[in-house]
Amino acid sequence: MRKISSKDASIRNLEICKIAPVIPVLIIDDISTARDLGEALVAGGLPVLEVTLRTECALDAIREMSKIKGGIVGAGTLLTYTDVNNAVEAGATFGVSPGATDNLISACEEAGLPLLAGASSASEAMVLLEKGYSVQKFFPAEAAGGAKFLKSLSSPLPNITFCPTGGVSQENAKNYLDSPNVECVGGSWVAPKDVITNKDWQYIEKLAKDAVRELS
Ligand code: 3PG
Repeated sequence: MRKISSKDASIRNLEICKIAPVIPVLIIDDISTARDLGEALVAGGLPVLEVTLRTECALDAIREMSKIKGGIVGAGTLLTYTDVNNAVEAGATFGVSPGATDNLISACEEAGLPLLAGASSASEAMVLLEKGYSVQKFFPAEAAGGAKFLKSLSSPLPNITFCPTGGVSQENAKNYLDSPNVECVGGSWVAPKDVITNKDWQYIEKLAKDAVRELS
């Protein structure tokens, strides 16, 4: 795999964030649900999928979802060097982390994986910007100050674009998307656990369509 610079990672992440208003954040417990879940979200207009590495079958889910036509599959909750290499080996084409460490950033750059690293304060965002990461995840969005806080960063830090995640919902997503420094939001509300368990793919597709219609 070719290395990726922080600048190229930022360019790629901006492209990814512009594709749809929401990046579904997925926690997949049962591998048999992965393909159908991904297909329902893509059919509903949300082709960028973040599979969190929080379950035993997460890497297999990335493998399955990478086969979906039109889907762009990333790995979330990246914490370690091993996570990064496993994610790339499974087919992830971008990575997301709740925060950022030098080791994680180096691992992603070495592996050629564009990293959407998390920040929750002006200083954290500035440190990432110094390293060349101008597209960042704002996490945990609601608990860290919400849309009002994030909008306040847009004047002093106009060169950073954020994807807020954590507590974002169909009801409050617009508050974030109205901010000049937000390109898309991330959230699990489009793939609720009980709906996945019930394999109600039509409902997942409806949730995705509602998000696209109301938030685009
Ligand atoms: C997470 O931590 O799981 C993501 O940020 C998604 O958060 P959410 O479940 O509040 O959307």
